[in-house]
Amino acid sequence: MWAATAAASASSPAVPPPPRRDYASLFARGKNGGCPPLFLAPMEGLGDARLRRSLSLSVGGFDEACREFTRVPGTLSQGAKAEKLLRGIALNGYDAEELSRPANASLMGSNPDLLEHCARVLARETRAPRVDLNCGCPANVVTGKGAGSSLLRDPNDVYACVSAIRRGCEGTGCVPTLKLRSGYDDDSLLRENLLAAQEGGAAFVTLHPRTRRQGYSGRANWKDIAIAVETLDVPVIGNGDVTSPERARALLFETGCAGIMVGRGAVQDPLVFRRIKAELRAGDWSEGGGGAASSSSSFGLTPAEEASEVVRFLRAFAAEVFADDLLISPRKRRRKLKGGAAAEEQFKLGKLKQIVKYLFAGNASLSPHLSRVLSCDSIDNGITAREMLDVVCDLVATSWDTPTDVLVDAFSMRTSYEGGRLLV
Ligand SMILES: Cc1cc2nc3c(=O)[nH]c(=O)nc-3n(C[C@H](O)[C@H](O)[C@H](O)COP(=O)(O)O)c2cc1C
Repeated sequence: MWAATAAASASSPAVPPPPRRDYASLFARGKNGGCPPLFLAPMEGLGDARLRRSLSLSVGGFDEACREFTRVPGTLSQGAKAEKLLRGIALNGYDAEELSRPANASLMGSNPDLLEHCARVLARETRAPRVDLNCGCPANVVTGKGAGSSLLRDPNDVYACVSAIRRGCEGTGCVPTLKLRSGYDDDSLLRENLLAAQEGGAAFVTLHPRTRRQGYSGRANWKDIAIAVETLDVPVIGNGDVTSPERARALLFETGCAGIMVGRGAVQDPLVFRRIKAELRAGDWSEGGGGAASSSSSFGLTPAEEASEVVRFLRAFAAEVFADDLLISPRKRRRKLKGGAAAEEQFKLGKLKQIVKYLFAGNASLSPHLSRVLSCDSIDNGITAREMLDVVCDLVATSWDTPTDVLVDAFSMRTSYEGGRLLV
């Protein structure tokens, strides 16, 4: 059905404007034996603007940062001033100037008309290089409203929503893209969903090969990424469980994907993008095995230099958190102000701990110190966020090791630790 609709509704302008970002050259880089483009994954609550900015301002290494989603409602209340409301929704939280190069915009919703309208606002009023449709969020509160990964239950819905975003972007040079999981309960509709996205006009797709049912458990099934590459003409970005240059190389070799997206691995090891770039530039990854550079140790920095880079990132992140009031949603800011200075200190400690959990868990020499750091508390033991930051930076400076290849599961963090040690 979506194939027929696609043919009927194709109405591109005669000469489409050039894309705002030269994705074609970016993907060609990988084809020509260089390092394929590297994307920092969207991670709501963890990978927010603070993380994107601090990584970008300190250690860098990625080609594009991806924004967490903006939620587009399924319906508008009666009598709502639709134009004004949707403009507010579309622009809420998206700041094209947050980095030196604009991050993508990402929409999550299920109503094609409203998605189209929001995409149009983003494409016309911001420098967004692309508007991505979220087809991955597994949260019940989202899927219950037919959005996120629940679109994957019907390729017609995927087609309708991607083509709505394409219409919204038309005539601007901003391109529509899609980020999806392998499926809802299983991956039986994977090919159909991928083709629906391509026919809908997605310039490329990012696949996180777990189903909604899997959440973040088990291993990402990279075979689904290979299926996507085989099925589609547009580029496929592979995502899921990349925590080291070795795993990046393996992902490319096993799937032939055109780019790599890293999420949790970049918090565990802020240098992971630079490691991957060094590895994939130096070796012929198309051969799969080790090229000239085949292990993390070939990155070129001594452990002490690595440690000081990580400290630089931590201090940049803390600077974002300590100065950040503008980045907090008005609702959270009200709550924070209500609690006064103590609540503000707890908030800062909480944000630092969130990063430290990942950073220490992936590092054999640091993980034994994790429970001590997590027990820092401004109320119970009077430790301020700045004091905790100094403790953490000292530990990193003295104990940093090349991170071990474990993957921290964000959603079972608490149960994954015992006595400060990661249980895998
Ligand atoms: C805390 C957290 C928040 C996430 N939020 C988003 C999101 O807002 N939008 C999205 O498309 N994916 C989101 N994801 C999924 C990631 O972008 C990525 O697909 C997933 O973590 C697998 O990649 P990784 O193994 O490199 O972390 C989130 C993941 C985590 C762990």
